[in-house]
Amino acid sequence: MKFFVDTANLDQIREANDLGILDGVTTNPSLMAKEGIVGEKNVLAHYVKICEIVEEGDVSAEVISTDFEGIVREGLILADLHPNIVVKVPMIKDGIKAIRYFTDEGIKTNCTLVFSPGQAILAAKAGATYLSPFIGRVDDTGWDGMDLIKQIVEIYANYGFETEILAASIRSSNHIIECAKAGADVVTCPLSSILGLFKHPLTDIGLAQFLSDHKKANQ
Ligand code: E4P
Repeated sequence: MKFFVDTANLDQIREANDLGILDGVTTNPSLMAKEGIVGEKNVLAHYVKICEIVEEGDVSAEVISTDFEGIVREGLILADLHPNIVVKVPMIKDGIKAIRYFTDEGIKTNCTLVFSPGQAILAAKAGATYLSPFIGRVDDTGWDGMDLIKQIVEIYANYGFETEILAASIRSSNHIIECAKAGADVVTCPLSSILGLFKHPLTDIGLAQFLSDHKKANQ
């Protein structure tokens, strides 16, 4: 299972990367805006900085255009920035057409804003490298985000689709565990959800006991 961090914050990306367990980064226009990265030149430069931190991992950079020509134009500029850039394209008709175009050109893609199994089938047929179903946003509407992941895992297995399921909109450490149980290929999550996996009170109690016993024995 791959771990991506879902942020445009360079400090958090560095912290996740330094753990030695990071496989990539996803960003979106909201995350870029949150970091105050505005203007095309700055946005493109920021993607390069992220790629330089992660080195080996895929970095998703999202297009703003919603028409085929615009998505292709933007995607080619993004893909040209760094070999690890993955062009993130919304799940719309022109987006699917553009994903097919990028696939045929050997450019990696991440189909984003996926909320149904039908959308997942379309993206796989277009040859998307990654598919991003949004768990948390489905949960927010009273539906079951994990059930969406399970349905897509089943469908992709039925047909041997190679598109990787990149579970997104993760809100907790438990989402990561549930995704692992369901067989998602990748989780992209806030750094806090990854750090939450470290926590267990028995680890803290056990470590304190070991250190205390060692100290007493060595006084
Ligand atoms: C990542 O690819 C998505 O853009 C992101 O996970 C969305 O998360 P959110 O629902 O917390 O905004």
